[in-house]
Amino acid sequence: MRRKIVAGNWKMNTTPAEGVELLKGVAALKGEVPAGVELIVGVPFTHLCCVKDEAAKAGIAVSAQNCADHESGAYTGEVSARMIASLGAKYVILGHSERREYYGETSRTLNAKMALAYEHGLAPIYCVGEKLDEREANKHFDVVRAQIEEVVFNLTPEQFGKAVIAYEPVWAIGTGKTATAEQAQEIHAFIRQVLAEKFGKEAAEQTPILYGGSCKPSNAAEIFGKADVDGGLIGGASLVAADFVAIAKAF
Ligand code: 13P
Repeated sequence: MRRKIVAGNWKMNTTPAEGVELLKGVAALKGEVPAGVELIVGVPFTHLCCVKDEAAKAGIAVSAQNCADHESGAYTGEVSARMIASLGAKYVILGHSERREYYGETSRTLNAKMALAYEHGLAPIYCVGEKLDEREANKHFDVVRAQIEEVVFNLTPEQFGKAVIAYEPVWAIGTGKTATAEQAQEIHAFIRQVLAEKFGKEAAEQTPILYGGSCKPSNAAEIFGKADVDGGLIGGASLVAADFVAIAKAF
């Protein structure tokens, strides 16, 4: 049985105090989430310290949304994997399309970030996904394959065993336009097949592959119902506790 995961990506939203309130709201409703569904909240760096205790109490894992591509030193404004891990986070979202698009993240920097994340005991939630023009040109399989081969293929089998993959078509992020459940299943199955080429079928079968992009309570059940969809990476809807929990209840 593969793990089932619903992860929120709060992006650059909420103050730390508002974030704690949001987390308390999720914790209060967590009893409604089916057993075996793991909840993760991906919070801004400034929130890691404040949400730590509340999250631990509620059995909700915490993720950062990025980490530095260097261990430590003169990198003004950066936050290291070591700092993140020391604040109790278990995960770090890496390669989100917003990081790739607005902050110039490439496979080269992502390889460095992945290595540092593992070194400090953080499991990556590694994001892949194509842009609208790439899907329209029928290049989405090639784009996603390259994003996996250039980064995930550099992991050791042991590291790979801890990775979570998130497929997020850029055209569906924050647009209200969701991939159909069939589109999600098609590319999730493809991702699993690519992972199997490198790590073997058994390891690929165990890897959680999450869907992200305008996932909400009204469409989660259909998407999560597909064989190769193991949960979601939720943006906007994760900022409303009841919606986030309703998505987790869709399993
Ligand atoms: P939305 O759910 O707001 O479309 O965002 C998805 C996302 O980017 C999660 O990482």
